[in-house]
Formats: sequence, structure tokens, C-alpha cells
Amino acid sequence: MEADNTQTTPKPSSLRWKILRQALLRRPTLQNSDEILNRISRRTTDGFNLIPCQLLDKDSTSRDSRVCYTIPVAGSPKLFLTQRVDNHADLGDFEICNRYNVDNTGIVCQWPSEDVLAFFCLSNAEMFRSKRVIELGSGYGLAGLVIAATTEALEVVISDGNPQVVDYIQLNIDSNSGVFGGTRVKSMTLHWNQEDLSDLFNSFDVIVASDW
Ligand SMILES: C[S@@+](CC[C@H](N)C(=O)[O-])C[C@H]1O[C@@H](n2cnc3c(N)ncnc32)[C@H](O)[C@@H]1O
Repeated sequence: MEADNTQTTPKPSSLRWKILRQALLRRPTLQNSDEILNRISRRTTDGFNLIPCQLLDKDSTSRDSRVCYTIPVAGSPKLFLTQRVDNHADLGDFEICNRYNVDNTGIVCQWPSEDVLAFFCLSNAEMFRSKRVIELGSGYGLAGLVIAATTEALEVVISDGNPQVVDYIQLNIDSNSGVFGGTRVKSMTLHWNQEDLSDLFNSFDVIVASDW
């Protein structure tokens, strides 16, 4: 008779989500943390909702929606992002990808990994205080915006290699400019296969990224 190994050899994907869950569970100090952690799910489509979000309205003339993110720390501001929520790319998106030799994953949706990165940064705010920070391959840039709004960083640059994505980043920086205090916040088109990145280590104290 063959042994049943299904219980003893978890799939790599299960291990990955387990590691993420453990990392999140080590941070019990946030407001409503038990409630937040109970919402953790392996379903990537729903995400973790660690930075709770609410769809506000859909622009009838484009595919954009306005989404409100509530930072789960008392006294923190809300963030308002323009982004897509329909989870697909169209022909125009693929044309931009081909022209700039980059993928279109940043435009398709806000990925669960960005939610986790934003939550991690919020949970480790002291790491960013008075620092020059850059986010790479940021997509809509939720984590960079959370850092800018909550950690008293000196400077936050939110970057991506897809110029279409960078337009959204700049729009989202502009929409939230009132909540950054003394932190300088900028967008940047930064394609890590095409640029000389050697200066990054001199220009920034902290580099954050998720899910390239
Ligand atoms: C899967 S998305 C992840 C976005 C976000 N960090 C997250 O975790 O949800 C990958 C991001 O990396 C960007 N990207 C892909 N290739 C890149 C490159 N060579 N240089 C810079 N950015 C790149 C994409 O435009 C996209 O926004």
C-alpha cells in the first residue's frame, strides 16, 4: 500500500502564504489587529485587506475607479487612489508594454503583495523616520503612499518601469498631497533593466519592493 503524503508535504504555495501569515502575526500592536489578522486569506483575488479599502466610484468615461484606503492606526489619514479594479489589461496596455519593454501587471489591479508590503511598512514605521526611501516596481504605489503618510520619512520616491503606471502614481501623489506633512514625495519612471542603478544605494537609505 502506498503512503499518503498529502498531509506531510505541503505545496510551496501553501508554505509561502504560511510564511506571510506568520510575518503578519508578529505585529500585534496595531489598532483592531485581531480583526485584521482574522481576515487573512489564501485567496489572492480577495487579497488580505490589511489596509481596508472601499470602492467609492467608477469613472463612467474610463476604466478608472476611486478607492479609499483606511490606514488601520488611530489618527492616520485616509488615502484616495485612482486605480483599476476590473482585473484585466486591454490592447492599449499591451502596446505600451511592447513599446517600453515592461509588463502590464502594475495596471491590472492592486495586488495582495502591495497590501502586505504597506502593512509591513506601517508596522515598522520607525525604520523610515527621517530616511530617504524608494519603492521599486510599485504598481499603484500603496506602500509608498502609506510610508509617506505615516512614517515621517524625509523623502519617498515611488517608482515603476511602466510609464502608464507612473502616471497613476503621480495622480495618486497629487490627490493625497495634503497628508504627507514634511515628507517630500515624488514619482519616478525607473526601469531596472535599462537604467544604471548603481546610484540607488547612495541616493536612498531604504529600498522597498514587492512581487516583481
Ligand atoms: C506584479 S506587479 C507588482 C506591483 C506591486 N509592487 C505589488 O506588489 O502589487 C510588478 C510591477 O513591477 C513593474 N515592473 C515590471 N518589470 C519592471 C522593470 N523591468 N523595471 C521596473 N518596473 C518593472 C510593473 O510595471 C508592475 O507595476
